[in-house]
Parts: sequence; C-alpha cells; structure tokens
Amino acid sequence: MTNNYERIVILTGAGLSAESGLSTFRDKDGIWSKYRIEDVATPEAFARNPEMVLDFYNTRRSGAHDVRPNAAHEALARLEAEHPGSVMTVTQNIDPLHERAGTMNLIHMHGEILKALCAHCGARTAVEENLTVDLACSRCGNSGGMRPDVVWFGEMPYQMERIYAALGKCDLFLSIGTSGNVYPAAGFVAEAGAAGAHTVELNLEPSEGISMFDEAIHGKATEVVPAYVDKLLKR
Ligand code: OAD
Repeated sequence: MTNNYERIVILTGAGLSAESGLSTFRDKDGIWSKYRIEDVATPEAFARNPEMVLDFYNTRRSGAHDVRPNAAHEALARLEAEHPGSVMTVTQNIDPLHERAGTMNLIHMHGEILKALCAHCGARTAVEENLTVDLACSRCGNSGGMRPDVVWFGEMPYQMERIYAALGKCDLFLSIGTSGNVYPAAGFVAEAGAAGAHTVELNLEPSEGISMFDEAIHGKATEVVPAYVDKLLKR
C-alpha cells in the first residue's frame, strides 16, 4: 500500500449507511423489494400519483432525522481531513451521514432527503417535516410543486461535470457500498481507470462491476473501510 496518492475520488452507496440502520435498495428486504421504482422514483410517478411519491420520501426523511454516522463514514471524514492531497466524496446516498461525520468536499449526486425542490421556481430549501401536495413554496408562494430534492430515474444526477473532471484527474478511486447497478455512477470506475487511477472496491460482496476494479476488499463497511483508511494514512 502506498500513500503517494495525490487525488482521491470516493464513490459511496447505500451499503455504507446499512450499519447505521438505513435500508439498502437491492439486498434481500431492500427498498426495491417493497416498492416498484416506477411507482415512486420517476417524474412520471410524481405526475401520476404525487401523494404516493411524497409518502415514500416522507418515510425516508423521518428515518433520516436521528440516524448517526457509523465507523465507515467517520473513517472517510478522517481520510479527507488527514490526507495531504485532495479527497472528493461523491455519494449516491440521499441521507445526511457523510456531512454528520464531518466530510466537507462532498457531492450528493442523487440529491438530499432533507431538502425540498420547488418544481415551479427551482428553489432548494431545507425541509424537516413531511411534504404534502398543497404545501406552498416559501420562495415563490406557489403550491403543488414541492417535491423532495432527490434525483429520480430518468433525471440527470447533480454536478456531473465536476465529478467527471475529478475522475479524469484522480490517481485513486474507491467505490464503497454500492452494487454497481445504476448509471452513471456505475461507470465511474471505468472513467477513473482510463485516467490511470488505481481502482478499489470495498463492498459486502462482489458488485456488478467487479471485473473493472484493480483490487477488491469484501466485508462490512464498518470493518473494511476504517482498516483501509488506516493503511492509507499509514497509521
Ligand atoms: P444497492 O442497494 O443497489 O447496493 C448496496 C450494496 O451495498 C450491495 O452491493 C450490498 O452488498 C452492499 N452492502 C450491504 N450492506 C453492506 C455493509 N454493511 N457494508 C458494505 N456493503 C454493504 O444500493 P446502491 O448501489 O447505493 O438511486 O444503489 C444505487 C442507487 O440505486 C441509489 O442511489 C438509488 C437506487 O435506486 C435512486 O433512487 C436514483
């Protein structure tokens, strides 16, 4: 293990937050075993049945209030703080656990459950309570357009230009707790690899994209991530 890396990009997914008590999507008993994506996570679903979609995300939001970062989130925040080079964390997770652990250089590419997006004026505002179909936007005053600030299937994830710029310059790419099913995130390993980065998967089990990684470490995030970060920081 070398610690000569200058620019690290980290991609995280639901497996990172599993040991904080948040459900993953595609594991047995995961969220997509109880709901259909096309019923709750597309713009068409929101147009067809906004109550059902808001309800689904209201449940996710209430689950995010008291949840605490685990040892893996904390290790990644420590890596950012102590690594002499740059560290960018890109998360597919809509929960607030990276920031609660202290990570600063963070992109929520699939949005944030603790924010609302007004479909009328585009304002993004912090939201603690349930969203309802008749809620008025605090900026433009229009009602009927308040939705969770999350990226749905068929929508463009956030800050892709910044992410691809970082991938094109990184020398270490870590993919943590993601099954590698959802693009564009699932394609980041190929981008980083093409830029010459060393690519490492840390996941409970081999992901869909396992063959694209130079190295894989399989185990629970709270065990493998702190150990890997300690090695990187040469503790
Ligand atoms: P998935 O549920 O698809 O995958 C979670 C991965 O985490 C699986 O490969 C598990 O094996 C692994 N895992 C589970 N528990 C773990 C643990 N304790 N430690 C380490 N790994 C563990 O979740 P994502 O890959 O994040 O998007 O899903 C990607 C996107 O699909 C989500 O952002 C969401 C979803 O649909 C949208 O809704 C747009």
